[in-house]
Amino acid sequence: MTDVTSHGFFKFLAPVYDFGARMAMFGQYEQLRQQLLGKIEIKKGRRVLDMASGTGYLAEKMGAVDLVCTDISVHMLKRARAKAKGDFVLADAHRLPFKDGVFHGAVSSFAMHEVGRPGEVLSEMFRVLGPGGEIAVMDVVQQTRFSKKILLEIFHTFVEMRTASYVNISQLKDAFRVADGFNVQLDMFGLVAIVWGRKKL
Ligand SMILES: C[S@@+](CC[C@H](N)C(=O)[O-])C[C@H]1O[C@@H](n2cnc3c(N)ncnc32)[C@H](O)[C@@H]1O
Repeated sequence: MTDVTSHGFFKFLAPVYDFGARMAMFGQYEQLRQQLLGKIEIKKGRRVLDMASGTGYLAEKMGAVDLVCTDISVHMLKRARAKAKGDFVLADAHRLPFKDGVFHGAVSSFAMHEVGRPGEVLSEMFRVLGPGGEIAVMDVVQQTRFSKKILLEIFHTFVEMRTASYVNISQLKDAFRVADGFNVQLDMFGLVAIVWGRKKL
């Protein structure tokens, strides 16, 4: 299991994260989060989980909902708390400290390549959604086309400093399919995939 206290790296990253993320997304910063948040219903009265919220990239755009942000780094969470209203919970995404079915929606951006076991994290996100609950996950993923493989290699080396582990899009889709009653849809934006679905009623 990942040790919540071992994430000192993000203590140093947190102050420069927002600037770095804007640079790393090559002008797609705004478009990507709008795309992701367009996949689920964001409105008053809905309880929505932002898994691995970081400094609040998605959270700051979800003002209408009853928001819960979780992250393994207290330094990242503190920055999210300065931008958005909600509950901020320090937790490892592999074992979310919530009961089954308590959320209407769950989102995650650019976190699957950071967590140790993405399949387990997705299972946790599925578990905490109630019937009809919506999930949308966005991240850079493994590529199959030669030109995109080269681009990913450049991104991996110069942006992620070769520390990330990208998910395979088929595995991501399969995780949705085997989860209890989830349909699955996919959009690609360059190296970034958005996968989303709804739990059956
Ligand atoms: C690249 S940042 C993305 C943050 C934010 N979602 C965004 O899109 O800007 C990855 C985040 O995942 C968090 N993280 C890494 N491993 C985690 C884990 N096992 N459980 C919860 N959060 C984790 C890090 O602390 C960091 O805030």
